[in-house]
Amino acid sequence: MTPAIRIAVFASGAGSNALALLQAGRELAPAVALPLLICDQPTAPVLGKLEGFAVESALIVRDIDKKTHEANILEKLQEARIDWIFLAGYMRLLSPAFVQQWQRWHGGAQQIVNIHPSLLPAYPGLDAVQRAVDAGETHIGVTLHHVDQGMDTGAIIAQQALPRHPGETMHALMQRVHALEHQLYTRFLRDVAAGRVPTRRLRIA
Ligand code: GRF
Repeated sequence: MTPAIRIAVFASGAGSNALALLQAGRELAPAVALPLLICDQPTAPVLGKLEGFAVESALIVRDIDKKTHEANILEKLQEARIDWIFLAGYMRLLSPAFVQQWQRWHGGAQQIVNIHPSLLPAYPGLDAVQRAVDAGETHIGVTLHHVDQGMDTGAIIAQQALPRHPGETMHALMQRVHALEHQLYTRFLRDVAAGRVPTRRLRIA
């Protein structure tokens, strides 16, 4: 039997996307395994929500320089033989050196993806939904994209617009944004599990 495609989820906050992925991953086993969650925030709510999942949470805080921090993360990923990184509200930009290293370890394939709450290239970075609302956009949206060396600039995998409802509160809008994020992200996970997305396995020279 082909060994499971191994995915690490990176999260820094509430973790709704991380949980959606872990739940979907459970149903898609043994085609995929999500054995590792990397978190950089000791107080992140996601850390308290992992009971019942076969996932190890690795809290790797950045109390040192970025290079050492990322080296610690890479070591953990290597130990867990991870093929893909799924960023799910990870509030730290990965350095070009990290992204390049990851690509080298995977035969040149770009196996880091991220979910972002806007129709990229519009509104990259923080507070994307609020900025889109403030600018009077009638549609906001969600983008799943590959991670390159910029901020929310990688090739787009999937994107879906979300029309705003008149008078809708920010809270209600954010709930719809999150639901759409979960939908796009779990669909991609299913595509990976089904082999519809080519996967290069971790191979360290
Ligand atoms: C999501 O809106 C995601 O698009 C952005 O960070 C947020 C994380 O939410 N990158 P959660 O922690 O997954 O609930």
